[in-house]
Amino acid sequence: MATYFIAGASRGIGLEMARQLRAGGHEVIGTVRHADAGAELKAIGARVELLDTADEGSVQALIRRLNGLAIDVLINNAGVYPDRDCKSMFEVTTAQMMEGMRVNVCGPLLVTRALAGNLERGGRKLAVQITSYMGSIGRAMADNAKGNLAYRSSKAALNMVNALMAHELAERGLSSVAVHPGWVRTEMGGPEAPLSVEQAVGRILATVATFTRAHNGKFIDLDGRELPW
Ligand SMILES: NC(=O)c1ccc[n+]([C@@H]2O[C@H](COP(=O)([O-])OP(=O)(O)OC[C@H]3O[C@@H](n4cnc5c(N)ncnc54)[C@H](OP(=O)(O)O)[C@@H]3O)[C@@H](O)[C@H]2O)c1
Repeated sequence: MATYFIAGASRGIGLEMARQLRAGGHEVIGTVRHADAGAELKAIGARVELLDTADEGSVQALIRRLNGLAIDVLINNAGVYPDRDCKSMFEVTTAQMMEGMRVNVCGPLLVTRALAGNLERGGRKLAVQITSYMGSIGRAMADNAKGNLAYRSSKAALNMVNALMAHELAERGLSSVAVHPGWVRTEMGGPEAPLSVEQAVGRILATVATFTRAHNGKFIDLDGRELPW
């Protein structure tokens, strides 16, 4: 049995992770932005914490409430898709670009460094950054991709942050792995996505269970395959 901390567990992939981990007998701390979004988490026996991952004050308040608790695995799942319908570099706004950077890049950085001490006290010593293949520059080049600049560039930046954090975290005996969860039918993924949230999360958690120090800094898909940067 391990203790998992899931940032962004009110719905979608994060909530399903909490469900499957609790069903497997693990302890789960799941975060929500608004107290009324935690009812489902509470019902499955998770500890619910309030957190806006991109707000430094909110992160610091959470750390004080955790009071040094040992955490085995941190999953930075919270994310936004600020320019889902924006298919051109001529249309994306500065506000969309900044929102992607704020939540998808600064959030995982703030939460990972704040929880590093808790992870040091845990057994797995692992941080997982939920990224996206849409952040792969190699894939964007191969696919002649256009549009969604805010989302794609924020996930590419998260991949870089993951790689850089991995080097420093290794000095403290910790690892960080960037994981693409697949294209999943959630509010973000939409109804056309091929994977149900149950299928995707089952595969993600099975892959996360295989991670060792050798995965530190890597960019990996839900089945454990390495993705091009
Ligand atoms: N679905 C896909 O096909 C897909 C594909 C590739 C990558 N991903 C990645 O997978 C992760 C989960 O996606 P999803 O499909 O489950 O999305 P979702 O259904 O839209 O859920 C997003 C979650 O992130 C939380 N969140 C957003 N901003 C936050 C903030 N500032 N602080 C704390 N929590 C915040 C949301 O909380 P609220 O309820 O409070 O808004 C919600 O719990 C994201 O990082 C996403 O980029 C998804």
